[in-house]
Amino acid sequence: MASSKPICLITGASSGIGAELAACAAADGFDLVLVARRVSGLANVAQACQRKHNTTVTILPADLGDATASRVLAAELRAKRIDVHTLINNAGLGANGTVAALSLESQLHMIQVNITALTELTRRLLPGLIERGTGAVMNVASTAAFLPGPGMAVYYASKAYVLSFTEALAEELRDTNIHVSALCPGPTSTEFGAVAGNSASKMAKQKSVMMSAASVARSGWDGLLRNERVVVPGLANKVMVQALRATPRAIAARLSASVNASGEP
Ligand SMILES: NC(=O)c1ccc[n+]([C@@H]2O[C@H](COP(=O)([O-])OP(=O)(O)OC[C@H]3O[C@@H](n4cnc5c(N)ncnc54)[C@H](OP(=O)(O)O)[C@@H]3O)[C@@H](O)[C@H]2O)c1
Repeated sequence: MASSKPICLITGASSGIGAELAACAAADGFDLVLVARRVSGLANVAQACQRKHNTTVTILPADLGDATASRVLAAELRAKRIDVHTLINNAGLGANGTVAALSLESQLHMIQVNITALTELTRRLLPGLIERGTGAVMNVASTAAFLPGPGMAVYYASKAYVLSFTEALAEELRDTNIHVSALCPGPTSTEFGAVAGNSASKMAKQKSVMMSAASVARSGWDGLLRNERVVVPGLANKVMVQALRATPRAIAARLSASVNASGEP
């Protein structure tokens, strides 16, 4: 990359929250590395950022469900001499169904994308941030991180991992100039529900509780700049997370089972 702007790498930048995070970073003077499977989606995001902010954008298509993808990505960054200042691990997916009903393959795929790739990219890029003494890591978790999720068990558990991992990393880097933040959105209007196959769930039917991807991304980006360890966008989500802290886990599990249910009365 010829430009002297700091570089922000965003996974899952082809749609939803990731695409909006790209817009926030570009507006704040970052060049971008955009990662996802759909090149057309990445190209649209890149074009908008180039036009509006004169951003230099590198598109690196990758399937993070492939166990070799993070290693290959890190090698591509090295080969292109791209030093990432800000890493945003946003790519993720859910799958609606019980542990017994969902295929093992789909649950292991979720763990690979939501947990393994996020951990591996962080570990591979972190030494560069530490060496340069500056940078940032944002990991996109969810309000699902705060409770068990019957009907989406692996998804909720994967986000609990992301939250715990990120809070621990933030503490490990407390005395450095590296910001670390977990973004925990509640229901957000993106392609997530359709991908998860939960468009029939009670939550998906409650369109009024959904935030826009743009406002979630704005909260997350501002929180990262302020070095907030945990960012929960939106008042309703903040209140829910506080209430969950005082709720017995078994009751929380019963409540989320009902939210994740197929919507049958
Ligand atoms: N929407 C919500 O209600 C909500 C709530 C809480 C947390 N979140 C979290 O927010 C993050 C972004 O989701 P979103 O809501 O913006 O949904 P989205 O529109 O479906 O975006 C998901 C992004 O992840 C990418 N992705 C999925 N699988 C991938 C793979 N195997 N390899 C590379 N990239 C992959 C997708 O790109 P390609 O398909 O092009 O690969 C897409 O860019 C996720 O981590 C999600 O868990 C969402």
